[in-house]
Amino acid sequence: MKLSLIFSSLIPVTLIAAQKYVFAHVVVGTASAHTVSTWANDIALASAARIDAFALNIAYPDPNIPTQVSNAFAAAASLNSTFKLFFSFDYLGGGQAWPATSPSQSSQDGDSVAWYLQKYGSNPAYFQYSDKNTSTSKPFVSTFEGVDNINDWAPNGAIRSAVGDVYFVPNWGSLGTSGISTNLNNMQGFFSWDMWPNGANDMNSSSGGDGKKWIWRGDDLWHERWQQVVEVNPDFVEIVTWNDFAEGHFIGPVYSPSEIAVGSDVYLQNITHQSWLSFVPYYISLYKGTSYYIPHDMTQFWYRLAPAAAGDSCGVTGNTAAQQQTEMPPAQMIKDAIFFSALLQSAAQVQLSIGGQVVATENGVQGINHWSQEFGQNVGAVELSVSRGGQVVNSTTGPPITSNSILANGCSNYNAWVGGF
Ligand SMILES: *[C@@H]1O[C@H](CO)[C@@H](O)[C@H](O)[C@H]1NC(C)=O
Ligand SMILES: *[C@@H]1O[C@H](CO)[C@@H](O)[C@H](O)[C@H]1NC(C)=O
Ligand SMILES: *[C@@H]1O[C@H](CO)[C@@H](O)[C@H](O)[C@H]1NC(C)=O
Ligand SMILES: *[C@@H]1O[C@H](CO)[C@@H](O)[C@H](O)[C@H]1NC(C)=O
Ligand SMILES: *[C@@H]1O[C@H](CO)[C@@H](O)[C@H](O)[C@H]1NC(C)=O
Repeated sequence: MKLSLIFSSLIPVTLIAAQKYVFAHVVVGTASAHTVSTWANDIALASAARIDAFALNIAYPDPNIPTQVSNAFAAAASLNSTFKLFFSFDYLGGGQAWPATSPSQSSQDGDSVAWYLQKYGSNPAYFQYSDKNTSTSKPFVSTFEGVDNINDWAPNGAIRSAVGDVYFVPNWGSLGTSGISTNLNNMQGFFSWDMWPNGANDMNSSSGGDGKKWIWRGDDLWHERWQQVVEVNPDFVEIVTWNDFAEGHFIGPVYSPSEIAVGSDVYLQNITHQSWLSFVPYYISLYKGTSYYIPHDMTQFWYRLAPAAAGDSCGVTGNTAAQQQTEMPPAQMIKDAIFFSALLQSAAQVQLSIGGQVVATENGVQGINHWSQEFGQNVGAVELSVSRGGQVVNSTTGPPITSNSILANGCSNYNAWVGGF
């Protein structure tokens, strides 16, 4: 009897619980040398990491965007996977705001929001969504800013009048929380770009202001934000970003040097972030409440290859006055430390050495573990290992930490190298 009561209360709850989704933000303008095959590779990687869809950030005007969007949809179709794509209209990245609709006489490919939604909104690979109040699913659409064009997205505004209803989840972070609350009629959800902490602080899950020659503190952020995702339990999570190499936040692969903006290439040499992808399936399972089998003991570690104060800051500030923040020297904001996580099949010892000297030995528990270790004056290659009963189970070695800037131009590189096994 008790059992059936539990069932009768459990089953409806399960049925009405909205499905949760994880996206990764892809800057299509950066993917300028992509082919259908590199798009297919990106989609396969993201799909293997249990990411549900790419938010295709498209800026205006950019004549290459229609081709790359077409390549992305062709790749999704060729893979025959459940992976989806949707648009995130970037109102700042291209220098002009997005026109809502195309001119009736002289329309050109990709010249408006309506053009893209009419062409791709009902494509089988386009992400459709319905919340628990709406019986029919609608094309999911997001933005990066666009607060001067809010009325275009009104229920009877130019965009919905032209393309039909959409499930609209903009990032209008520059309005602040109060500005957003006065525009709720125009949106079905809200996406916040406010994900880096202000100053030498840890990020928390309360909202602050939205924060480009500046840094915001990463350090433990990758691990901490996933913990906050589980705590806040939003309907959607967007990983920022897949490929913004120029801004130094990316988890996807680099295919072509031409996709790295001139001037930022020096900060990306030999530095990949792709190891961050390896825990994504686990973090997503935690967020969605689905099961995850740890295939073997896994680790991730990341660090900058020299102390923050070792090179010239070359004009880079910690924080930015452009976002009404108090600026500070980068070295006061970020930690000279190795950040390391382990996803363990059972309890084990996790050991970190620099230049052959053990600097940390941690007792890891089954499941996720995260630590950081300041590297101080230590220099040399960094080795991370997992041991059980005195036997090394697995280990890996990352590039050396040096006491001076690793860059020929004498500037500090604040971009972290990421590895693991
Ligand atoms: C695509 O996937 C569906 C469902 O898994 C399957 O039935 C179909 O045969 C696949 N088509 C191709 C061309 O692989
Ligand atoms: C769903 O409908 C209820 C009742 O009308 C309303 O209170 C709630 O805000 C709606 N939720 C969404 C996401 O629209
Ligand atoms: C969250 O972080 C912000 C910015 O660092 C800070 O102002 C605020 O007090 C923090 N809130 C909590 C609850 O810690
Ligand atoms: C990148 O790696 C290559 C090959 O190991 C090396 O020659 C080069 O100096 C490295 N570049 C930097 C900036 O560390
Ligand atoms: C060690 O790590 C590699 C790389 O992830 C993995 O393929 C291998 O299975 C691991 N070995 C053990 C014994 O866990």
